Amino acid sequence: MKFFVDSADIDAIKELAAIGLVDGVTTNPSIIAKSGRDFKEVVKEICGLTDGHVSAEVIATSADDMVREGEILRKIADNVCVKLPLTLDGLKACKELSSKGIPTNVTLCFSPNQALLAAKVGATYISPFIGRLDDITLDGMELIQDIRAIYDNFGYETEVLAASIRSANHVKECALVGADVITAPPSVIKSLANHPLTDKGLEGFMKDWNKSGQSI
Ligand code: E4P
Repeated sequence: MKFFVDSADIDAIKELAAIGLVDGVTTNPSIIAKSGRDFKEVVKEICGLTDGHVSAEVIATSADDMVREGEILRKIADNVCVKLPLTLDGLKACKELSSKGIPTNVTLCFSPNQALLAAKVGATYISPFIGRLDDITLDGMELIQDIRAIYDNFGYETEVLAASIRSANHVKECALVGADVITAPPSVIKSLANHPLTDKGLEGFMKDWNKSGQSI
């Protein structure tokens, strides 16, 4: 399973990349606004931190304008993936950009049928939002499971990029149901390494080692 970092925090991406936990990065307009930096400048910097895809989202709402913006974003770096909203215009733009060989990430997916449409127009990634479904007491993980089954039924190559991940449990469930990629905030990715018995065990080993008087 690939790990994408859902952030524009350069230091946090660098820290995870140094461990070997960054297969790509996703951003959205809210993440870019929070960074307080120039959109193209920050995307360019992120693209230099990973060989994987870096999703940069269009702002336009008409298909023609989305294609135009996508082509501009794509010039930032070779690993830019154009992120498009799951609307009919977004799907049309996806079809056109995909036919030109431009990688696409169709975002804001909340139903299996939406995911089916994204696969039909050749999206590289579909981004179903787990946390936002859970927020309204629906089952985000069921969506991932349904999309996996549909894509496997027909052999669609669109990758299931589980998004809006809020917890370590979401990551585990995504791995179990076969999401191709998860995108999560740095804090969630780092938290996957935590276990109280690991901390306790390490403390015990250190205590005993120190008593032995040896060194390596
Ligand atoms: C995905 O590409 C989105 O940027 C992101 O996962 C949304 O997460 P949120 O629902 O926590 O804002």
